[in-house]
Amino acid sequence: MALKNINPTTTKAWTALINHFNNVKNISIKDLDKETNRKEDFSLQLDDLLVDFSKNRITKETIQLLVNLAKEVDLKDAIEKQFSGKVINVTEGREVLHTALRSTSEEPILVEGKNIKPQIQTALRKIKSFSNKVISGKWKGFTGKSITDVVNIGIGGSDLGPDMVVESLKYYKNQLTTHFVSNVDGDHVSEVMKNLNPETTLFVIVSKTFTTQETISNAETLKNWFLKSATIFDIPKHFVAVSTNLEAVDNFGIDKKNVFPMWNWVGGRFSLWSAVGLSISLSVGFDNYKNLLEGAEEMDIHFRNEDFKNNIPVILALLSIWYNNFYEAETEAVLPYSQYLSKLPAYLQQAIMESNGKGVDRNGEKINYQTGTIVWGSTGTNMQHAFMQLVHQGTKLIPADFIGYKESLYGLTDHHKKLMANFYGQIDALAFGKTKEEVHLELKTSGNLDKIESLLPFKVFEGNRPSNAILFDKLTPRSLGKLIALYEHKIFTQGILWNIYSYDQFGVELGKELANKLLTKS
Ligand code: F6P
Repeated sequence: MALKNINPTTTKAWTALINHFNNVKNISIKDLDKETNRKEDFSLQLDDLLVDFSKNRITKETIQLLVNLAKEVDLKDAIEKQFSGKVINVTEGREVLHTALRSTSEEPILVEGKNIKPQIQTALRKIKSFSNKVISGKWKGFTGKSITDVVNIGIGGSDLGPDMVVESLKYYKNQLTTHFVSNVDGDHVSEVMKNLNPETTLFVIVSKTFTTQETISNAETLKNWFLKSATIFDIPKHFVAVSTNLEAVDNFGIDKKNVFPMWNWVGGRFSLWSAVGLSISLSVGFDNYKNLLEGAEEMDIHFRNEDFKNNIPVILALLSIWYNNFYEAETEAVLPYSQYLSKLPAYLQQAIMESNGKGVDRNGEKINYQTGTIVWGSTGTNMQHAFMQLVHQGTKLIPADFIGYKESLYGLTDHHKKLMANFYGQIDALAFGKTKEEVHLELKTSGNLDKIESLLPFKVFEGNRPSNAILFDKLTPRSLGKLIALYEHKIFTQGILWNIYSYDQFGVELGKELANKLLTKS
């Protein structure tokens, strides 16, 4: 049976939340922070992950009412339907089973009556054996040399996930250099191409449909470039593909042995756990890739089984709804305090905004409440010297996720101490601000008594700006898998609560159609 179809604004919980909001909307995080055990009461731990959500404009009652909302729209039922392979992507008639890709349990998952677990395991074995051959140097190019460079050709979900993970796990990488070509802008592929040697380059064409204009154009350009030095008989040594469209892959000239599977029951933006992640496995080795999957599975198990009030993705989704639908916040910031995670915000923009940027509900009715949050961000501390001015003193309410690590990877503990002091400094500055009295005293003690009148209002920080601290022990493949899965489940939870379909993306089609029309005219 398909997903339930409940307009959240018609629930009892929603009415209770409106009343509650009217009572608490002016509460101050500073006051709330004085509560004994505030931090313990509003923190959740999952092994090496600690999520502290105490610096939000919430009370225990807020959480209870939000949890009631999740219960009233039967989130539990939706979670079970997703994990067990029901056709919850109704508009495309598909199951949504990225979680099956990382499941190590024996539980069969049926798609059209057939258990998909064996084909997932076969694909993983193929990824492993291929990665091992390329990394060890056993896989040779057309002149007998080993591979030195891997080029991932794809766009959207076939690019952003692998690119983000390869960048995030740079510390764990091997001798291969991985490149990503996505844009149809010819200058992108030209810049990558100019540093490649055809004898030692492996091209991984990733396209679920194998019809995407950008990917096919880039793949053709790179094939033509390759064929300037080699012959079509050399293609099998240098081109592999990840796709569901075997016929198109064959027409492109790729050897059947070099095709890695993709399945319709995995959405593009949730596909890095499938062979779409081949360039990750090539870059960091299969064992690290497997650890990434295992971390995600740990989050899956937590999300599927934990009570909503102790469930990290559910709580983060509910907080986001609290700000989006009650405080009318327009955007959310994702602020990783790790240079490795510089590509996370762009990755999450696709995952979140392509999924929940919908204005029609599961009845096909136009929605009269706010859905899809706008997500943006960048790494700390760089962004502190850029857009944080607006987050601290601007007119907009911008809830933020701060993502940090207790340990750095290379040591340099002095740097890490400074990094994390900034992490907590920003969170506290946003939450507690600086009062008129404090500014007054500061100007006075610094001998600027004469400037108090003219400067005081500009130096005040209102504070009361909410954030979550998402803190891991260390950036590892496993902890990264957990982090990505956390956001995937947050997206799903919000889609269920907003009564929308999160797994289609018709909104990207019209522009493509019009571009194609213009191309055929010219
Ligand atoms: O245009 C959007 C989109 O369909 C994404 O959802 C998808 O990840 C991307 O294009 C690439 O699609 P494909 O893997 O079929 O080339």
